[in-house]
Amino acid sequence: MAFPENLGRRKPAQRLATILSIGKATPAHCISQTDYLDYYFRVTKNKHMTQLKEKFKHICEKSMISKRHFVLTEEIINKNPNISTYSSPSIDIRQQILAAEVPKLAMEAASKAIQEWRQPKSQITHLIFSAVSGKEMPGADYRLAKLLGLPSVKRVMMYFQGCFAGGTILRIAKDIAENNAGARVLVLSSDITLPTFRAPNEHGIPSLISNAIMGDGAAAMIIGADPNVLKERPLFQIVASTENIIPDSEGAIKGHMHEAGLSIHLSRDVPKLIANNIDKCLAEALSPISINDWNSFFWIVHPLGNAVLDQIEIKLGLKKEKLIETRHVLREFGNVSSATVFFILDEMRRRSMEVGKATTGEGLQWGILFGLGASITVETVVLRSFPTNTQLIQGKE
Ligand SMILES: CC(C)(COP(=O)(O)OP(=O)(O)OC[C@H]1O[C@@H](n2cnc3c(N)ncnc32)[C@H](O)[C@@H]1OP(=O)(O)O)[C@@H](O)C(=O)NCCC(=O)NCCS
Repeated sequence: MAFPENLGRRKPAQRLATILSIGKATPAHCISQTDYLDYYFRVTKNKHMTQLKEKFKHICEKSMISKRHFVLTEEIINKNPNISTYSSPSIDIRQQILAAEVPKLAMEAASKAIQEWRQPKSQITHLIFSAVSGKEMPGADYRLAKLLGLPSVKRVMMYFQGCFAGGTILRIAKDIAENNAGARVLVLSSDITLPTFRAPNEHGIPSLISNAIMGDGAAAMIIGADPNVLKERPLFQIVASTENIIPDSEGAIKGHMHEAGLSIHLSRDVPKLIANNIDKCLAEALSPISINDWNSFFWIVHPLGNAVLDQIEIKLGLKKEKLIETRHVLREFGNVSSATVFFILDEMRRRSMEVGKATTGEGLQWGILFGLGASITVETVVLRSFPTNTQLIQGKE
């Protein structure tokens, strides 16, 4: 039998991949940062640790977070007290909860993204799913495809990547959408902090920091090239994407899974390491163009923590208003791991429309999205916004 030479070769799309809708979801259980201080030391039965509580209070204040959402409730903790210790084995119960909750939260975000997209879900060809936790076989991607009724969707599952993965998802979705004409990629990020929740301990300050700044949330987007402008509303074009590992940053942010859950290591140098290397990442992503004024861009920065945003702002000479949406999302939800950058994109297009800006990117055409996380990895994505007068947002036609 003679096989055609181009067997298996896909027909590429004509134009660049574009974000066509965004949906987000958070668990109902919400705690203000002020209440979290007492809550955390009460549910972990460590009210007597007054010095550590003072330190935690200081970190919470410096975090610039006002509230966070969690799957983990006091009721769950009371039923499963090992979760609230520093080192008791608790991996089984954490895993049992996550296996159900990661796809559930994802489903809520996906339904909103599909609803905004307004196209039949049967047109979804690919699914990319990122989750720090809840590793299963088959995974959360499989469960979501079942819940959505998408039996033949082509799946990619990314477990345990963490905070930078929002950028990774966009990079992979871009490659899929641009190399498969007609592809519509549902991308998902569903991150739940349950693995890192543990009691305060004076030898575990990074764990204390992670308990002070991380929150739960899921975000979904539909991405495709060559949008049908009669039916689809383009929000942001994904123009370029690169990934860099910051030199000499190995171990600066890392996680270790063990019987008591996921323990986090954070170097104090994280904000400086990022700030000192960010210009190289930008130069590579924008090559061959060189930029003098970073204020001519709109910005979506994975916050990691407030100190990282401060350092980036100083390094790039950004005006205060440039990170307004990023800081808003940090304040309202905490660091929601890889979903954070999608929350910020959602906030940016909403604000742009509400205040009558000309484009989804605050009236500007070009933007930069940074995914930042373990090792330290930097995902740099160059975005192009669309005019707001072509947009439809759920409930705001
Ligand atoms: C946590 C954070 C909000 C605190 O804000 P800040 O402006 O740095 O505040 P401070 O410098 O006063 O630090 C607060 C306390 O945390 C300690 N701390 C901060 N980073 C630390 C680290 N990586 N390891 C150990 N302790 C740390 C400081 O020593 C200080 O302790 P002290 O009160 O005993 O002096 C900020 O450091 C931050 O955003 N860090 C980056 C967070 C990060 O790496 N996130 C990755 C994902 S979890």
